[in-house]
Amino acid sequence: MNNFTFYSPTCFVFGRETENQAGSLVRRFGGTRVLIHYGGGSALRSGLIDRVRASLEGEGISSVLLGGVQPNPRSGLVYSGIDLCRSEGIDFILAVGGGSVIDSAKAIAAGTVYDGDFWDFYCGKRIEKALPVGTVLTISAAGSEGSPDSVITKEEGMFKRGASGDAVRPRFSVLNPALTETLPPHQTAAGITDIMAHLYERYLTNTAEVEVTDRLIEALLLTMIHEGPRVIADPHNYDARANIMWAGMMAHNNSCGVGRSQDWNSHNIEHELSALYDCAHGAGLAVTMPAVFSYVMEHDVMRFAQAAVRVWGCSMDFRHPEVTARAGIEAFRNFLVSIGMPKNFEELGAKEEDIPALVHALCWGNGRQGSISGFVTLNEEDCGKIYRMMV
Ligand code: NZQ
Ligand code: ZN
Repeated sequence: MNNFTFYSPTCFVFGRETENQAGSLVRRFGGTRVLIHYGGGSALRSGLIDRVRASLEGEGISSVLLGGVQPNPRSGLVYSGIDLCRSEGIDFILAVGGGSVIDSAKAIAAGTVYDGDFWDFYCGKRIEKALPVGTVLTISAAGSEGSPDSVITKEEGMFKRGASGDAVRPRFSVLNPALTETLPPHQTAAGITDIMAHLYERYLTNTAEVEVTDRLIEALLLTMIHEGPRVIADPHNYDARANIMWAGMMAHNNSCGVGRSQDWNSHNIEHELSALYDCAHGAGLAVTMPAVFSYVMEHDVMRFAQAAVRVWGCSMDFRHPEVTARAGIEAFRNFLVSIGMPKNFEELGAKEEDIPALVHALCWGNGRQGSISGFVTLNEEDCGKIYRMMV
């Protein structure tokens, strides 16, 4: 196991009706004038924004609304949010929504207290300072409610890139699984896929002797395999949603990733798809992961075989472990299809003729130097082959 520091200071408040504690939580973490940031309208329609606002008012805390965050959030609204926070004297940002809203809130939080262009953070500069952020989560997926990360798409060039820093880890996150019951099935399934992707990105490691995190990841993957179909069959299954919601947080606050190298090639390859086609990030991952895994399998066949046996219930073929490894990848692909995820470019809405542009943006866009690195290093040729495997 590698040396590590683990810092996860977020206060999680979990359960039914916990959104009504938003006001007291903002007060506890020092907010006096709040920007409530939300998305395209689901949180307004469900009455959630009204309930959150009432909770703030109950504590004598004033607020300003900024909605309109779209999935795969854009830089334009971040600039508007920064201006608004400065002109309104905002000292706390409350994100009410999913990963897109939370990531936009984190970008605004970092940009408001920074003299330069907030995009600097998405070109590799670490976020050291930000306004405090809290969240009321409405979809189990990105894990942004417990992560130090934010992913934004810059409109000029449509580059989708990540920034990171402990300063934007949420001070608190309110997790009420019942709020996710209004999700359309496609979004629920995309969220399940993203959670599983966060687990696999950590499972694909080059670090030896990481039994505790291997076993944690396997447990969470097994949970998703159990609860995913239950929630797809019955969207009002609170208990299944509760298990998925907490798994989504644990999958990405890095409790399962400490002390080990991680992959993230699937995420980087997918980000070009959701940047270009505006598909749900999880749907893009469903098409991306089986292709990436098949392509890199030879690098460490036993790692894939281990997942196949422990997670997917495959039997170990000791003479031909690659057969076991392949069976595990196939079982994962079948699972994703069974919950309604796309399996190829066509079902995702992607086009084969765009592959050269996707590869170029992936390997050279926004300062990259011709390749991406994780479990293995992938150059332009590798990435082109992987995209072609998805057709
Ligand atoms: O905008 P509204 O109207 O709210 O609709 C949203 C949106 O259309 C809808 N939705 C959310 N909660 C709902 C709901 N509809 C009905 N009822 C509810 N309770 O769902 C749609 C998707 O929302 P979004 O926030 O985009 O989903 P998600 O949480 O999957 O976030 C995706 C973004 O997170 C990034 C992705 O790249 C993508 O941009 N990621 C962020 C990470 C991080 N910060 O740590 C890590 C992830 O790997 C990921 O890359
Ligand atoms: Zn993800």
